[in-house]
Amino acid sequence: MAQSSSIESVLQEQRVFPPSAEFAQQARISSMAAYQALYDKAAADPAAFWAELAEQELDWFKKWDTVLDWQPPFAKWFVGGQLNISYNCLDRHLTTWRRNKAALIWEGEPGDSRTLTYAQLHREVCQMANVLKSLGVQKGDRVGLYMPMIPEAAIAMLACARIGAPHTVIFGGFSAEALRDRLNDAEAKVVITADGGFRKDKAVALKPAVDQALEDDSVPSVQHVLVVKRTGAEVDWSEGRDVWWHEVQPTVSANCPAEPMDSEDMLFILYTSGTTGKPKGVVHTTGGYNLYTHLTFKWTFDIQDTDVYWCTADVGWITGHSYIVYGPLSNGATSLMYEGAPRPSNPGCFWDVVEKYGVSLFYTAPTAIRAFIKMGDQLPQARDLSSLRILGTVGEPINPEAWMWYHRVIGGGRCPIVDTWWQTETGGFMLTPLPGATPTKPGSATKPFPGIQADIVDSEGNPVGDNEGGYLVVRHPWPSMMRTVYGDDDRFRRTYWEHIPPKDGQYLYFAGDGARKDKDGYFWVMGRTDDVLNVSGHRLGTMEIESALVSHPAVAEAAVVGRKDEVKGEDVYAFVTLEGTYSPSDDLKAELKQHVVNEIGAIARPGEIQFTDALPKTRSGKIIRRFLRNLASGEAVVGDATTMEDQSVLEKLRQGA
Ligand code: WT7
Repeated sequence: MAQSSSIESVLQEQRVFPPSAEFAQQARISSMAAYQALYDKAAADPAAFWAELAEQELDWFKKWDTVLDWQPPFAKWFVGGQLNISYNCLDRHLTTWRRNKAALIWEGEPGDSRTLTYAQLHREVCQMANVLKSLGVQKGDRVGLYMPMIPEAAIAMLACARIGAPHTVIFGGFSAEALRDRLNDAEAKVVITADGGFRKDKAVALKPAVDQALEDDSVPSVQHVLVVKRTGAEVDWSEGRDVWWHEVQPTVSANCPAEPMDSEDMLFILYTSGTTGKPKGVVHTTGGYNLYTHLTFKWTFDIQDTDVYWCTADVGWITGHSYIVYGPLSNGATSLMYEGAPRPSNPGCFWDVVEKYGVSLFYTAPTAIRAFIKMGDQLPQARDLSSLRILGTVGEPINPEAWMWYHRVIGGGRCPIVDTWWQTETGGFMLTPLPGATPTKPGSATKPFPGIQADIVDSEGNPVGDNEGGYLVVRHPWPSMMRTVYGDDDRFRRTYWEHIPPKDGQYLYFAGDGARKDKDGYFWVMGRTDDVLNVSGHRLGTMEIESALVSHPAVAEAAVVGRKDEVKGEDVYAFVTLEGTYSPSDDLKAELKQHVVNEIGAIARPGEIQFTDALPKTRSGKIIRRFLRNLASGEAVVGDATTMEDQSVLEKLRQGA
């Protein structure tokens, strides 16, 4: 397991930080008794609990007939109901004072910025929706997004939602190859992209990757590419296929009614890595996702109308979907988008943004926090961070030391920290403190959100005792759960619902994480139990990287494991055996690393490649990854090696050959 060496320190963790009386007093949910009452109410009658909230919190064009239709493992929420998430994120605010409230504040890396009020955002979303229609996109057609962090990324998502065209956002850091696979799997009709974006003091091109992904008609479904001008870089142009956004925007109407969508109509597909080489298209639908992201955002960040909320994620990940765009805007909040990353020319840029806009809610990842720690306290201390009210973290287990630094240096000791555990598949927060209620413990994502029945079980599905490690599972369906793997119901069933065999018709959702629960019912997530790595909060399948490596002519066999990394959490460590005619060299190492970047993207670049004559295998030919993990971290090889086919392999690997 990824975090094995920090488990010791986490087990020792005794500190508890209750919200201050002052904070609790002004919070929406202001005591553990209030939390418990909500939790109990939801557990007693989940359907009634969610129905009441769906009625209260969202606007529906047509009310549902059935709250929950659960035919394991397939759930349908608010069946028969009709709504549109873009309507809930925009139109319904236009008849209130929020019409002229900032919906999006955007700060570009070079220092340019833009603020879009709800009325302005609505206008641009309508325009883009009309452009998509003019390009032939109809309800149900999929649209691929490959975007930098600019307002048009959010505009494009909302425009797709508005006309009922499911979007599939592909993270801008993925390579042309990865983009092609995903566009093909989704059979996207249109791709929305930009010439490029700015990141770490450089203009990073995007359009060339789209051109490459589409060349030789290798994604036959794509008919048009809509291109936003951002960096001004020269781009190749495919006449008839490519369309500039700034040219067509003025030609269309700024009015586009939101399409009434069935609650279970697909809202988006988002690809994520699993245990096989092929990424999974996680399918989310409209009603349940809208409700759950709305509510979790509202309660977990205790959103107030004076707040400026900033989530540092990229819109290419689920965090960006649920908690930059949909959750915040559905609440009428002000959501800040930042284009760049801490960069050589201004490593303190994040704190400049907090100071400049008076950010009050700040949500980032442990890997970023650890990078900030390394940069030194002087950077945040030179800025006024007194506007901050709540801090959040997501993406991987946070080590208690990083938590304490975040609390002290960024939060000035006064801001509750919400450590939110969830996944692409869960759509929204599953385990999280409620900031005015839950006493926090550094390193724990604390307790389930009301309506979530989380537990820790063994491989048979039996609950384990206090502080015993086991698998993190969820017992009852929740509104924003993924509905299926796009085009592969069977994979959905196998991966998430049959991993732990269902008993007496009781299905358990298997998250893939190991965790334990302490005597106070607090959850401590330890990390993935499967062959999935968490590198800087990004999820990467070891098989995916292995297939990328073996697609290089020099590689005979590859095994990829995680190695503990101080900042990234985990780093990619690859063991490679070569084809007969190739011999190990530093040049070849560099070439293979670059090959992985070309096949998947820079996020998957191996930190280390070790050449070896053979890999440790069981007698039946299975690679023994446990040994490789030990070797990669420079630890002693633990466990039984007698089942190994060839004992000398380990010795050679230890010697680095
Ligand atoms: C995996 C999901 C959900 C948005 C970011 C990643 C790990 C996520 C936490 C947390 C411990 C966490 C888990 C999970 N994870 N949040 N607060 N504490 N681990 O989404 O790419 O779908 O990855 O990230 O291992 O399974 P994702």
